[in-house]
Amino acid sequence: MQLISCTDYADMSRKAARVIAAQVRLKPQSVLGLATGSTPVGTYKELIRLHREQELDFSRVTSVNLDEYYGLSPEHGQSYHHFMRVNFFNHINISLGNTHIPDGLTKDVAKTCAEYDQLVTSLGGMDIQLLGIGNNGHIAFNEPGAFFYAQTHLVDLDEKTIKANARFFESEAEVPRQAITMGLRSILSAKLILLLASGASKAAAIAKMVKGPVDPQLPASILQLHPNVMVFADQEALALA
Ligand code: GLP
Repeated sequence: MQLISCTDYADMSRKAARVIAAQVRLKPQSVLGLATGSTPVGTYKELIRLHREQELDFSRVTSVNLDEYYGLSPEHGQSYHHFMRVNFFNHINISLGNTHIPDGLTKDVAKTCAEYDQLVTSLGGMDIQLLGIGNNGHIAFNEPGAFFYAQTHLVDLDEKTIKANARFFESEAEVPRQAITMGLRSILSAKLILLLASGASKAAAIAKMVKGPVDPQLPASILQLHPNVMVFADQEALALA
């Protein structure tokens, strides 16, 4: 695991975007694993700038997103479908048909989850997987638990996650209690993982991810088993690492 110390959020975003841009330039048909949350927004802004100003071409890129709230339609203002369109897809030349996000309205959860894993396998895994990290050490929506969950699955969100994500909703009561999340096998099948962390609220999770044991109570710790992880973090997020 390579720790890249960044001066601030803007520096983190630029550095991460540079790696993704290089990947897309070297392999225009790259498969990008994409993340939501507030942390990657700056990276998406920088990639949009590179698209506009330096002709970074996404026309042959395929994207696979990590997760979606269960019960939210793609049109819902807090769905991850909506997030990706507003923060990234609408501003670049990716073909929407090549973008994939779990269906939060599925009536057949088991089928949707199995098909999502098959999709990742059929694409040959992600060339790059972008990740944020929850305050409780979750990646995607793989929450702390008794064991590491390999497959895409329906998850009950952790109380801490519901509280942390309440800032995006009108009230905590409106935060969905469940989500469909990519499992750890697909995430770890990525050739390169970029994990972003910014701010003091992430410091404890980052320290445990880097220095602690590999422990399902801190899901991000499983990244210690991956040979190619770059952690881009600002000073506050690295304070305890
Ligand atoms: C959400 C997402 C994660 C994200 C995390 C941190 O719950 N499912 O993919 O990494 O929260 O979000 P933020 O970047 O807003 O702190």
